[in-house]
Amino acid sequence: MVVVSLGVVPARLEQKRQKETFIRTDHSVSPNCSRHSAVRVGVIGVGTVGTGTLKAFVEHQREVKRRLGCELQLRVVCSRSIHRRDLSWLGRKVERTTDWRAVVGHPEVDIVVELVGEIATARAIARAALQGGKHFVTANKQLVAEYGMELVELSHKAGVSLGIEACVAGGAPVLHAIREGLAGEQFTAVWGILNGTTNFILTEMERGGRTFQQALAEAQQRGYAEPDPTFDVEGYDARYKIAILAMLCFGQPVPVQSIPVEGIRRIGVVDFAYARRLDHTIRLIAAARRLGQRLEVFVRPMLVARDSPLAAVSGTTNAILLEGNKGGQTLITGRGAGGEPTGVAVLSDIVQIARAIAAGSSRLTPFGYTHWRAVRLAAPRDRRAAFYVRLVVRDRPGILATVSSIFARHRINIDSVLQEPSTEKQRLPFVLTLEPSSEDLVLRSAKEINRLPFLTEPPLWMPFAESSQAGDSSGYRQ
Ligand SMILES: NC(=O)c1ccc[n+]([C@@H]2O[C@H](COP(=O)([O-])OP(=O)(O)OC[C@H]3O[C@@H](n4cnc5c(N)ncnc54)[C@H](OP(=O)(O)O)[C@@H]3O)[C@@H](O)[C@H]2O)c1
Repeated sequence: MVVVSLGVVPARLEQKRQKETFIRTDHSVSPNCSRHSAVRVGVIGVGTVGTGTLKAFVEHQREVKRRLGCELQLRVVCSRSIHRRDLSWLGRKVERTTDWRAVVGHPEVDIVVELVGEIATARAIARAALQGGKHFVTANKQLVAEYGMELVELSHKAGVSLGIEACVAGGAPVLHAIREGLAGEQFTAVWGILNGTTNFILTEMERGGRTFQQALAEAQQRGYAEPDPTFDVEGYDARYKIAILAMLCFGQPVPVQSIPVEGIRRIGVVDFAYARRLDHTIRLIAAARRLGQRLEVFVRPMLVARDSPLAAVSGTTNAILLEGNKGGQTLITGRGAGGEPTGVAVLSDIVQIARAIAAGSSRLTPFGYTHWRAVRLAAPRDRRAAFYVRLVVRDRPGILATVSSIFARHRINIDSVLQEPSTEKQRLPFVLTLEPSSEDLVLRSAKEINRLPFLTEPPLWMPFAESSQAGDSSGYRQ
């Protein structure tokens, strides 16, 4: 028998060993760090994300240096009102300017970070930075969704890196996971809950029984929704994000305007009651999936099975469910917005670029593709889905027969008819669910049904989004 003695190492000796290890590691990395002794950063935009980024920059500096092996130096910050802000915590060495051109043209800036928002300015900054040979990081989903290919081309020409992690799902590192962690996968679909504001509203309606207006007011009070919430509740924000995700998952640029978008304004408390009876809930889903040689991309509210991973995503949380040929489902969730989580995503891009500079290695290519394919988008006739249809009618005999005959003419089978008890005969809601059918036929029947005289408001049409795990036979099943 061998007896191993676990002798106690004297504290002084242990300290010396730790010091030696640190010093050795430090020395082996520093000389490669860059032409200069540090990688130098200029940040334009000191609002919500800019402040979050700068705070992470300052507070995580030591940790970042341990990871990177060299200094990350904040050289200059810019915003129009920079001189009215108390940024004393940045220290005196950091230059301040109100002119973004002074950052982009600064001879001692290696990485330009754009956190301005407004699209024309953001694009001008991006172009000037990349053409000037600076590495570029942005949190601007509109810039990347609309001008992503232009940025890739410019960065390619200049031989510099492009960082876009903060554009989708804030603090959840989904783009990195798709590009690096799953680079060996062939994706079949990506499903996302990509807008925290709408998800907060929907979960408030689901759990608290609040109307859309009440839930929106609560979101605004908590600072989750803008005074004008159109961009979020109509699905436009999620549309930019799914365009970016589609580029990363499929290597196909999708023109943003070609993505159909539908918001959540028309969802009522009554829809959650019916969804519950069907063992589902409602989420605003942004998705891209392969349909043969074509790609289907959309943003719309959908019925989600209660046992699917997306149904469990509540409040302002974001989630991305990736479906791959070999690996099956991968779920990534996290805080989708807010200065601090998004600031960490921005800083992570900066660290990654600095690492590449330090190693003298090649550029960071944000989409992970070198060969792009033109996209062929799916048409309604390519798609099959089970549908939920909510009608609100002035009650009278023969309504169900009229609606059923329209569906029958279009060869669509009704799966179930549901009606919650109600005394309001002049505004009576009821729901039909349809068996999986061609969306083309559903749209044609919708055209006829939407014109029926006994309706008191346009019907609400929502597809079911069954995940492959739920084992159902809807068209959205893989
Ligand atoms: N907020 C989030 O949670 C979040 C999450 C993910 C991504 N993003 C994206 O991050 C970006 C920034 O969003 P944000 O919420 O931080 O915006 P924000 O709070 O409105 O901040 C914008 C900043 O940009 C500055 N700015 C605007 N125009 C400028 C100009 N021409 N020259 C110099 N500075 C200028 C503003 O300066 P002044 O105030 O001095 O005018 C302000 O400091 C946007 O693209 C947004 O979509 C935001």
